[in-house]
Amino acid sequence: MKGLVLCGGKGTRLRPLTHTGAKQLIPVANRPILYYVLDNLKDAGIKEVGVIISPDTGEEIRDAVRAWDRKDGVSFRFILQETPSGLAHAVMVAGDFLGNDPFVMYLGDNLIGSGIADLVEKFQREGPDGMILLKEVENPSAFGVAELSRNGEVTRLVEKPQVPPSNLALVGVYIFSPAILQAVSKIKPSARGELEITDAIQWLIEKGARVMSQVLGRWWLDTGKKDDLLKANTIVLDDWAREEIAGEVDAASRVEGRVELAERARVAGSTVRGPTVIGEGCVVENSFIGPYTSLGEGVVVKDSVVEHCVVLAGSKIIGVDRLEDSLIGRNAQVISHSSHRSYRMSIGDDSVVEL
Ligand code: TTP
Repeated sequence: MKGLVLCGGKGTRLRPLTHTGAKQLIPVANRPILYYVLDNLKDAGIKEVGVIISPDTGEEIRDAVRAWDRKDGVSFRFILQETPSGLAHAVMVAGDFLGNDPFVMYLGDNLIGSGIADLVEKFQREGPDGMILLKEVENPSAFGVAELSRNGEVTRLVEKPQVPPSNLALVGVYIFSPAILQAVSKIKPSARGELEITDAIQWLIEKGARVMSQVLGRWWLDTGKKDDLLKANTIVLDDWAREEIAGEVDAASRVEGRVELAERARVAGSTVRGPTVIGEGCVVENSFIGPYTSLGEGVVVKDSVVEHCVVLAGSKIIGVDRLEDSLIGRNAQVISHSSHRSYRMSIGDDSVVEL
């Protein structure tokens, strides 16, 4: 079984952050989303992984994969998709790499709250042509939706239906036999001009192939938007944050609960409440941080209260009475000279906000 991770695409939904970076690399609890994807593939026993990259962000993705902290024993092939022409197009471009092997296709920006080893095992045991992961959602019209038979086999797939046949949305994890390669070569572009994986799966079903499904019991976050990203950060911190203090905490500070303070980070005259992660080289002075906050490498927070925020590397927050539910890009500055209000924002990399 191989893995195919999709890291191409346009990434319009998380603008402005994705103007300067790949959305698969946006950190959740200070690790790129992509690393959770790679962890899940490795934990399911997959040792050969193809990574679909785009001309814009390919280099960044390659560097991040090479820096993945668990890469031992896994080999990678980077596959350039010149244009983001759809998920089925990405499969087509990966044809040589996939050869005649079954594979897990995993969208590089999707986070799920469980592993995929069970799914892979079920596929290997039952030998269908496809297996899709589904999740009950409240607004199925916004997703690809599956209609199932009584025994859980997929009878129909529809992309963003006005009248959804069920409330089961397609999560970005699929397993395919090599039969999908024929399907992707037969379908035509959709109304939005993309080769859709739902159409390829539908083609398989119509040819009599068996496509099975599994409903995900735990959470799923398609981190397309700011609020999704903050929610993902909250859930991942809840699940994975540990109490681990490698940096320095002075005698006037309090660190409560599950706080990860990386090396060379310094906390002075402050309270940090977990679950919270503070990256390498951060400086926190005379402030309150957390809960549910991630500060990337080298972030500086002074004279501020920061709660339920994701702050990317190199940013500064100074004199802000209360910053909450906010996503701050890289090297941004939020500086308040006098204010007693609470602010909510989603600002891009290299922005400066003076309040
Ligand atoms: P999508 O979220 O469907 O598409 P997108 O990245 O183009 O962006 P947006 O809707 O935010 O404008 O993509 C899901 C994942 O698949 C994402 O990790 C990008 C990747 N992808 C490819 O690798 N190739 C493609 O042709 C497409 C459409 C997506």
